[in-house]
Amino acid sequence: MTSKQRVLLLGATGETGGSILAGLLEANQFDVEILVRPSSSEKPAVKQIADRGVNVRVSDLNAPENELTATLSGIDVLISAIGPHDLLQQKTLVRAAKSAGVKRFVPCAFITIAPPKGGMMLRDDKEEIYNEIKRLVVPHTIIDVGFWHQISFPRVPSGRVDYAMMMPKATIHAGGNAPNILTDLRDIGRFVARIIEDDRTLNKYIYTWSDVLSENEIFDIVQQVSGEEIEREQESAQEIEERLAKASSAVAENSTDPMNRIMLYMAQYDYSKYVRGDNQPAYAKFLGYLDARELYPDLKPISFRECFAEVLDGKGRLPYH
Ligand SMILES: NC(=O)c1ccc[n+]([C@@H]2O[C@H](COP(=O)([O-])OP(=O)(O)OC[C@H]3O[C@@H](n4cnc5c(N)ncnc54)[C@H](OP(=O)(O)O)[C@@H]3O)[C@@H](O)[C@H]2O)c1
Repeated sequence: MTSKQRVLLLGATGETGGSILAGLLEANQFDVEILVRPSSSEKPAVKQIADRGVNVRVSDLNAPENELTATLSGIDVLISAIGPHDLLQQKTLVRAAKSAGVKRFVPCAFITIAPPKGGMMLRDDKEEIYNEIKRLVVPHTIIDVGFWHQISFPRVPSGRVDYAMMMPKATIHAGGNAPNILTDLRDIGRFVARIIEDDRTLNKYIYTWSDVLSENEIFDIVQQVSGEEIEREQESAQEIEERLAKASSAVAENSTDPMNRIMLYMAQYDYSKYVRGDNQPAYAKFLGYLDARELYPDLKPISFRECFAEVLDGKGRLPYH
């Protein structure tokens, strides 16, 4: 019998990391451990995970490389789901993964399909880490997921789904016809558990999905399921470009202000998804991504329609709360 892979997860207290932790534990075929920073080691969320029998390794990502290498001792697979503002902190971790002989590093990707540079600041930061991985010849897998269902539905007039929305809005962007890859946040971990056991995904890009839907199709589903007519606000491609230019200038003036960065992330997401039409299977294939549904046809992901019906039923959850 082959021994279980020892998997170390960074970011387990976050949204993406929480899904990955659940998926790894549900698979029941890994020795799962988590990596947390010293300032978070006493957090209730970390204690709750430890109470489930998951070993906790504590290390500062800014620690010297040899210290981080020791932290990674005995790890087969290292997965990072670090938050969007801290992506570059994975740099020493890449070198430590190389020194520690980690067999697969899954750096923090988990976003939409986009070109490697110049389109999205978020992607640029991630690609800087991918480049370090490639430069040092570290075995890896880059996993993208499109956009989460949980942040893809519009507001309905009755306000019934406002409780699960970070920004209750009903806007159609650039005509709303660009196809978009969508994955339920809860399915990310289930896909990850399959991907890290699979030699076909080593040193590859791969994307997960349950649906590919345009905004107009999403609004149609939401109307059908809720029985409510949605007033569709429109933002044109030109308006998105103007918003993007404003957000870029704000970041050029002050790049450390988190609000400036978030506004730019959002404008760049909208431009990439709806104006350029990046987040779709044809472009993923062009960039060389594998399709997780082709590799795992038996994995039945939660559809956008199912997810929205749950939210309508009051069984949704506001992300980050
Ligand atoms: N596809 C989509 O629709 C979508 C949506 C949202 C996000 N994302 C992507 O998913 C990725 C993860 O984001 P998220 O929103 O899931 O994250 P999140 O909920 O903000 O959680 C971030 C995690 O990173 C940990 N962390 C942050 N800085 C750290 C550090 N210096 N050292 C150790 N741990 C650190 C946090 O731990 P603590 O407990 O110590 O704070 C937390 O566990 C992002 O890169 C983002 O681009 C994608």
